[in-house]
Amino acid sequence: MAAVPAVRAHAQPLLRLIGVAAAPSGAPAPVLRGVDLDLDPGECVALVGPSGSGKTTLLKTINRQVDPRAGSIVLDGADIARLSGKALRRARQQIGYVAQKHDLVEPLRVDRNVMAGALGRWSAARALRFLAWPSAGELAEAHEALAAVGVAHKLRAPTAALSGGEQQRVAIARALIQAPKLLLADEPIAALDPATAQAILELLTRLAADRGMALLCSLHQHDLARRYFDRVVEVAGGTLVCRAAAAEPLPLRAPAHGARLPAGRAREPA
Ligand SMILES: Nc1ncnc2c1ncn2[C@@H]1O[C@H](COP(=O)(O)OP(=O)(O)OP(=O)(O)O)[C@@H](O)[C@H]1O
Ligand SMILES: [Mg+2]
Repeated sequence: MAAVPAVRAHAQPLLRLIGVAAAPSGAPAPVLRGVDLDLDPGECVALVGPSGSGKTTLLKTINRQVDPRAGSIVLDGADIARLSGKALRRARQQIGYVAQKHDLVEPLRVDRNVMAGALGRWSAARALRFLAWPSAGELAEAHEALAAVGVAHKLRAPTAALSGGEQQRVAIARALIQAPKLLLADEPIAALDPATAQAILELLTRLAADRGMALLCSLHQHDLARRYFDRVVEVAGGTLVCRAAAAEPLPLRAPAHGARLPAGRAREPA
């Protein structure tokens, strides 16, 4: 019997990168070129690659902290590479970002840091009022996000008094406040012991599954990348290379003659 051609589950990816070139501001030449990648809703993809290869640059380009020098970044049908002003702010609200060196404000209490995730949808006046007098509803929202990452009991704690793993959970809770469709996490386990690191990856991938949220997460540990993620892509030679399927290889459509490589199965570097 002829084999049934394997197809990806979603006809329309949540995120589609097409020919993206990017460099951190100040870099003379692009660090990344010709980057193609598709991410389906709810899909978890690990981004691996040596230090300096461009993982952070790619993640920051997707949420437009870094402006792409070429290519398209299509999120839910809109090319955010071409948006500006209010339209860009609205699009960015769909993208949660957990930075490589998490940027919590340590002198503030945990609840204030978590609700900072709502600043994109609040006026400046409301943000100022929240800092001084959070409402019961806002505190409940912060509590719910902290509960989702297992540290609800730290709601009122000073952020500086939390362990590294707890602070990482707070940074994730802050991103969840946005209810993003896509979560970008830049080396979220870099400074954690092995058990805590695995707990954080379990948390991130479970949240993605529970919420139908796509996850693109950079990390250096290839074994953990294969264990926890649907796919692993590597930044190498300035572009993306499919390095390994995860434990269960995803079924991928064979490319038609002359067609672009399938999503995430990035081209080999030139
Ligand atoms: N502000 C900047 N100005 C100029 N070059 C930069 C700047 N930031 C990063 N770079 C360069 O861009 C390249 C990619 O850096 P990037 O931070 O994206 O790498 P990375 O893969 O995230 O590394 P790591 O694993 O160490 O976090 C590196 O060569 C780096 O030196
Ligand atoms: Mg980095």
